[in-house]
Amino acid sequence: MKPLKTELQQLYGDASKHSAYQNIPDFVSAELGYTETIDESWRGDRPRLTYLYEARKPAAGEIWMDFGANTGFFTLSLAKTHPQTRFIAVEANPNHAAFIRRVADYFQMGNVGVIQSAVGIEDLPSLPKVDFMLHLNVLHHAGHDFDKHAVACIEDFGEYAQRYLKLLRGVARGLFFQMGSNWGGDKSRPLVGLYEDAEKLRLFATWLRHAGWRPVKAAYPHRGGDGRIAYHDLATLACAQLAENSGMALEMHSWESLDQFPGEFYRRPLFICEHA
Ligand SMILES: C[S@@+](CC[C@H](N)C(=O)[O-])C[C@H]1O[C@@H](n2cnc3c(N)ncnc32)[C@H](O)[C@@H]1O
Repeated sequence: MKPLKTELQQLYGDASKHSAYQNIPDFVSAELGYTETIDESWRGDRPRLTYLYEARKPAAGEIWMDFGANTGFFTLSLAKTHPQTRFIAVEANPNHAAFIRRVADYFQMGNVGVIQSAVGIEDLPSLPKVDFMLHLNVLHHAGHDFDKHAVACIEDFGEYAQRYLKLLRGVARGLFFQMGSNWGGDKSRPLVGLYEDAEKLRLFATWLRHAGWRPVKAAYPHRGGDGRIAYHDLATLACAQLAENSGMALEMHSWESLDQFPGEFYRRPLFICEHA
């Protein structure tokens, strides 16, 4: 029988579109001596997890879902520290879903469930109902990785996104949301320009609000003098303006600190949303 570390390495690096994407959860590395190197100056998981712990802690008895869970950095890290909360990972890639299952089994994490499925917009109503959902960096892949029939061209995307987000309201009461600004991850097809940070926030917040979500927090990363990357909430004023759909405060916000990051990933805002 293969050692677990070898098996996990194979499942992780399966040469699919989103392989070699996430960090290995710290408790897995500590037990198995298994790490994968991600260049966190381009894209990182730990700063997002730290922000989530501060913004919305899992409560005992709650059910959380990690939609597009990849290799389970969020599902597994959260489930390990919050054994009284149930976590459901939804992941299309069978190898990555198996990665999460293998780790959960080995560590006897009875609070982890895995749904291996490519869930499209029409399938959303049949997902289990949960208290809180992580939906990170999946939606902009609609029309490419899933729901090809529903988003035939970039012009369709805004209307589709609002329909999709509205259906998500029927699945979760709270949402941790992030999406890319390029359709299908293709730089030549921007939904909104890379450096148009105010417009990006306004557009995504508008889609969320039109779908019936209330964005209560929006956060961006900052790299401190020690090199540490941490997400911070936008000033309360800017958040209030987000709610009222006025761009003024956002135009006044300084976006220069985002220029310290290469690429697009760290220019993707994080949203915490609620609905009635
Ligand atoms: C870009 S990765 C983001 C991973 C993770 N959410 C994060 O932000 O670190 C997108 C993940 O979602 C999965 N995925 C994409 N479309 C999906 C769908 N329709 N249903 C379930 N999983 C999907 C992919 O296989 C991939 O693992």
